[in-house]
Amino acid sequence: MGKYGYISHITFKKGSTLMDMRAMGDDFKVCLCRNKTKKEVMDFIRENEIKDLEELREKGNVGNKCGACSEDLEQLLVMAYE
Ligand code: FES
Repeated sequence: MGKYGYISHITFKKGSTLMDMRAMGDDFKVCLCRNKTKKEVMDFIRENEIKDLEELREKGNVGNKCGACSEDLEQLLVMAYE
């Protein structure tokens, strides 16, 4: 792996603040603004068959305030359907 890491279709620069959601526990607060954990978001994505970040923001009331968690939520969208 070179300068960039890959998580499915998501590319991120190594050394960035982007975290690997696979390494985080279920109780990890993925969205601080909306106080949502990784497990809550993953369950919501699967139960509601959420397909993209925009839909997740609208229906899940997550990631729709400061937006700092957007990349993390994108990772969860990929992981939810693996
Ligand atoms: S941390 Fe998710 S919207 Fe701010």
